[in-house]
Amino acid sequence: MPGNRQWVLKKRPVGDIAPGDLAFVDAPLRPLEPGEVLVRNVYLSLDPTNRIWMSDQDQYLPPVEVGDVMRGGTIGVVEASRSDRIKEGQVVNAGLSGWQTYSIVHEAMANPVPTLPGVPLTAYMSVLGATGLTAFFGMTDIGRPQPGETVVISAAAGAVGSIAGQIAKLKGARVVGIAGGPAKCAWLTGDLGFDAAIDYKNEDVGAALDRHCPRGIDVNFENVGGEIMDAVIARMNNFSRMPLCGMISSYNSTEPVPGPSDFARVLMRRILIKGFIVIDYLPRAAEGMAELAPWVLEGKIKWKAHVVEGLENAAEAVKRLFTGDHDGKLLVRISPEP
Ligand SMILES: NC(=O)c1ccc[n+]([C@@H]2O[C@H](COP(=O)([O-])OP(=O)(O)OC[C@H]3O[C@@H](n4cnc5c(N)ncnc54)[C@H](OP(=O)(O)O)[C@@H]3O)[C@@H](O)[C@H]2O)c1
Repeated sequence: MPGNRQWVLKKRPVGDIAPGDLAFVDAPLRPLEPGEVLVRNVYLSLDPTNRIWMSDQDQYLPPVEVGDVMRGGTIGVVEASRSDRIKEGQVVNAGLSGWQTYSIVHEAMANPVPTLPGVPLTAYMSVLGATGLTAFFGMTDIGRPQPGETVVISAAAGAVGSIAGQIAKLKGARVVGIAGGPAKCAWLTGDLGFDAAIDYKNEDVGAALDRHCPRGIDVNFENVGGEIMDAVIARMNNFSRMPLCGMISSYNSTEPVPGPSDFARVLMRRILIKGFIVIDYLPRAAEGMAELAPWVLEGKIKWKAHVVEGLENAAEAVKRLFTGDHDGKLLVRISPEP
């Protein structure tokens, strides 16, 4: 049995993740039980929700306990197997198997990763993984953009937002993205076909929304919350929809998070606001993939991965999600691809 290296939650962060909140430690690997496989993790997904899991706030999964391995999604290669279903050498999605070099996973939680010609492994951690499904179901099941409607997306150049916007374009909507910095905005309008992009770091978001959404807003795919969400809600139309995907602007907050400043508008404009978590849609994953995969293979949906080398850099790298200092779905390469 090889040795294992893990990131363990040492204390709950207060505000931004700080040195000492997580520790990188050596750990022994126990022998496999029947039905289990040993996965050498290749890619770790870093997600904004990692910060929520580090806290003990009321949330959709149990918090990571202090002393436990940090939770995170991985894919990897099976190096030993006591399963009849999963063989050595197979590449599997190991679920939320954690920030560690090796994971011991029950066969029920290890899903073989398909191989599609020309599709890199990183796609299954992004556009053809939970990220793509989040964008797909949030947009099509809750947002339901109609041809000609105006869709606004916050964190639009991010992993989920960039895919959500392209899906709305494929459904015939006008799409306006909100992102930080001229390079990200140029990618949205130049490469992804967004109709407009608003650089929230350098522009007045409300004034820009007035310019780019002259007929108001029909769908707000909300990833950020706070002042950006307020500016969008203030311009939403009658019977508009708001898939509430995330509120990243508040994940490091040490104060209670206020709701929309003009909540009465939700009533006056009869706005549908629906929070959702991608795990609710996993029973419908095949349905989502049946629509998403052809778009990706035909180049109708573009995506990027930002890969940080080395598990030892994970605790520093996860902070990039909160500064925007990454270009695409943030991943860590833990070990070489097979
Ligand atoms: N509901 C679900 O099941 C589900 C699943 C996955 C993700 N999510 C949510 O979706 C959102 C995006 O996640 P992702 O994985 O795709 O990450 P991501 O968008 O690739 O990265 C996060 C981005 O958020 C933006 N951001 C961070 N702090 C901000 C702030 N204070 N104000 C404005 N923008 C800020 C940054 O973009 P800029 O460079 O543009 O500032 C950053 O690049 C998050 O809220 C996440 O929690 C929800």
